[in-house]
Amino acid sequence: MVRVRPALAQLPSYVPGRKLPGAAALASNESPYGMLPGVVGRLGELAGGVSRYPDMSAASLVRALAEHHGVDPDRIAVGAGSSEVCAQLLHSVVGPGDEVVFGWRSFEAYPILTAVAGGRAVRIPLREHTLDLDAMAEGINGRTRLVFVCNPNNPTSTAVGARALRDFADRVPDEVLIVVDEAYREYADPALVPDALDLLGERPNVVVLRTFSKAYGLAGLRVGYCVAPKEIAATVRKTQVPFSVSALAQEAAVVALGERAEVARRAALTVAERERVTGRLRALGFEVPDSQANFVWLQLADTSAEFALHCLSGKVVVRPFLGEGVRVTIGLPEENDALLALAATWRG
Ligand SMILES: Cc1ncc(COP(=O)(O)O)c(C=O)c1O
Repeated sequence: MVRVRPALAQLPSYVPGRKLPGAAALASNESPYGMLPGVVGRLGELAGGVSRYPDMSAASLVRALAEHHGVDPDRIAVGAGSSEVCAQLLHSVVGPGDEVVFGWRSFEAYPILTAVAGGRAVRIPLREHTLDLDAMAEGINGRTRLVFVCNPNNPTSTAVGARALRDFADRVPDEVLIVVDEAYREYADPALVPDALDLLGERPNVVVLRTFSKAYGLAGLRVGYCVAPKEIAATVRKTQVPFSVSALAQEAAVVALGERAEVARRAALTVAERERVTGRLRALGFEVPDSQANFVWLQLADTSAEFALHCLSGKVVVRPFLGEGVRVTIGLPEENDALLALAATWRG
């Protein structure tokens, strides 16, 4: 009998948001606006060119990203979504039994990818739905190799500010990698939520993680990246599955980066809708923390599953976390209206 690694036996699989034809898809934090106009055209031109392997170094994309962030291209490593880059980072620094610290609840992939890498997940409870950076710093010890700071945090939508993040980084030993996951950066208010690259980017142990899956509308093509110190980026590149970022994904990401004005316009629409939805939900009596992302968090505790079913009955798919809360992605205005109508008829 082939023996499967014991660490994986108890591991839950990643649960994706449900897809229901004809329903409002508010369960996966995707952009509701579809592909950017330039991306549609370029993919059509390229579709015939995929009989060859893609450029494994993703040179054009890396160049475009380096320019976008004003950093040396050596500092960038790409992957098939920032999920793969998370895995690459873990494989770069985590050995058997090493510890990985993160707030909890946070992005569901952190514990899964940590276990797959052979590490031990150390979950630090949130405080008031927000990362407790003091407790996270205290959770670091001699076995800790990496700490994820999800800012804004998925699924609770809250963010930590510049001072708290800098103070935290000051407390983390240089040999521990701090990965600031900024998947939702484009939806955050820059006056309240720091760009970790600006704030901490020159530190030798800080990596900033970004994705094209959210504001750039490319969730289905799988492309993400990190900006890291050069030596770390070089190792992260070694841990990538060869050719994991397809030619289409690379090209689309380059074009999408060039459509910054449209990305910003769409993000602003989402933020305006987020504020409308939050205000209305609060008026209905729901407790909703201030969101800095493209989703809101409903603190429904034991009624979370029931609320999700209630939404499903009205053809709106949301994401329940049993016993904790429900994450609702901000969609198009009419999708948000459908959600609000269901919230108004909820008798939890
Ligand atoms: C905080 C966070 N990080 C990373 C990801 C991964 O996104 P992707 O692999 O599509 O880039 C997600 C996706 O939901 C997320 O919420």
